[in-house]
Amino acid sequence: MPRPPVRRHVFVCMNRRPPGHPKGSCVERGAAEVLQRLQDIRIERGLFEEYRPVATGCLGPCDGGPTIAVFPDDTWYGGVRPEDVEEIVETHLLGGRPVERLT
Ligand code: FES
Repeated sequence: MPRPPVRRHVFVCMNRRPPGHPKGSCVERGAAEVLQRLQDIRIERGLFEEYRPVATGCLGPCDGGPTIAVFPDDTWYGGVRPEDVEEIVETHLLGGRPVERLT
């Protein structure tokens, strides 16, 4: 069955490094909860054409994780917490304006 078209993809780094690794990792900093919140809001509000969350490997800026990247906008967010997700959905994914304080 074909998937419906989607306006944006939200890539969430789900990289996990061993405990004590000097770089740390986004999962260690709470990325799984951020991804879950993106998925929950999408389902609760029926935003299937607005965005699709995608779990990825390391996106690069590990120090500032959890890292997420919104495409095709090429907007990158760091230090995202689950409680930031509602604002990202409202302001960026629905409103089209990046949440500057998290970029
Ligand atoms: S571990 Fe998430 S950006 Fe590298």
